[in-house]
Amino acid sequence: MQPSTPQVLVLNGPNLQLLGKREPETYGANTLADVIAGVERTADELGVGVECRQSNHEGELLDWIGAALGTFSGIVINPGAFTHTSVALRDAISGVGLPAVEVHISNVYAREAFRHHSWLAPVCVGQISGFGIAGYEWGLRALVRHLRDAE
Ligand code: DQA
Repeated sequence: MQPSTPQVLVLNGPNLQLLGKREPETYGANTLADVIAGVERTADELGVGVECRQSNHEGELLDWIGAALGTFSGIVINPGAFTHTSVALRDAISGVGLPAVEVHISNVYAREAFRHHSWLAPVCVGQISGFGIAGYEWGLRALVRHLRDAE
């Protein structure tokens, strides 16, 4: 059974706790706290709940996705470098069957070739890449629209 007010799990993967300090020419000056504040503002506007979590550990992200069924209606995820390496994260998303939106701060297709492949993209509703931290807001809006269209 789906919860009545949609609850969205917003996940950030490895190194995203360093936002603001990490390669600002690529990822900008905003911090993870800024990302979370923006996501929470957008969630209020849309009338949905959000829970934001970050981990550097693939297993922890897997545990969170695996436990999401029944509590969350969908997932917004920036998998960081796990995007390009993790079949396990892809299997977790397809395994729980919750709609997910993949977000990247940078335009991964304008960067090194190894960033052009995402293991997760084929099991996500869609992907947003290259709009800075605004991508999280667009990702949440797109997911909520998708959930409401499916009602
Ligand atoms: C990223 C892009 C990835 O290639 C990279 O490993 C990251 C951040 C982004 O948000 O642009 O850690 O997901």
